Amino acid sequence: MPTRSVQHPNVAVYDHPLIQHKLTILREKSTRHEQFRTLLNQISGLMAYEVSRRLAVREKPVETPVAHTMGTELAEPTTIVPILRAGLAMMDGLLALFPEARVAHIGIYRDEKTAKPVTYYAKMPVDIARGPAIVVDPMLATGGSAIHAVELLREKGVRDIQLVCLVAAPEGIRAMHAAHPDVMIHVASIDERLNERFYIVPGLGDAGDRIFGTQ
Ligand code: PRP
Ligand code: URA
Repeated sequence: MPTRSVQHPNVAVYDHPLIQHKLTILREKSTRHEQFRTLLNQISGLMAYEVSRRLAVREKPVETPVAHTMGTELAEPTTIVPILRAGLAMMDGLLALFPEARVAHIGIYRDEKTAKPVTYYAKMPVDIARGPAIVVDPMLATGGSAIHAVELLREKGVRDIQLVCLVAAPEGIRAMHAAHPDVMIHVASIDERLNERFYIVPGLGDAGDRIFGTQ
């Protein structure tokens, strides 16, 4: 079970030893992109089990080889929403647990000078509002990108939205809470702060570059 943050009640911190061990390797600047991708997907998969705890279920009749009984199934279609680029490297970990989930891609990058989000792509299931959405992005820095992604989902009528990140800055958590207080945030770590370039400290650098080897 993750721990609820005392300062940020809308945040679940995944302090599991295995997740923290893998996160430390991700933070190390000498870790190469192939290992970075593998570990990020593994952490996402480990988090997915608890993230899915809130999903609604309904009763379903089932014939076992022995008897008729009632079981349960997920009541609504779940949509995983990776924020491009870096969110892509968390998607397979989640899809391993939710093979039937749909995927909505949202492309957002931060303007290098202002750190404001710039949206360049959005492709979602037409009936995305039928079920919950799980937004995935390893970094929550100023919060601008994730808040904008949530706004795009709200415009489509999605009500139940969770955000899964690897590392979050307190500034980003506060901004998300102010904009969308009902969005539960799942993180492996709440780091210290943002620096003057709006990078998370200690963080792990530019997640997209480290995932895709574009540094
Ligand atoms: C990174 C990261 C988030 C965003 C977080 O993306 O993956 O989407 O920054 O910062 P914020 O909370 O201040 O908005 P980036 O802009 O580097 O785009 P990329 O993944 O395409 O490299
Ligand atoms: N985006 C990143 O990839 N890293 C940060 O530290 C902040 C924003």
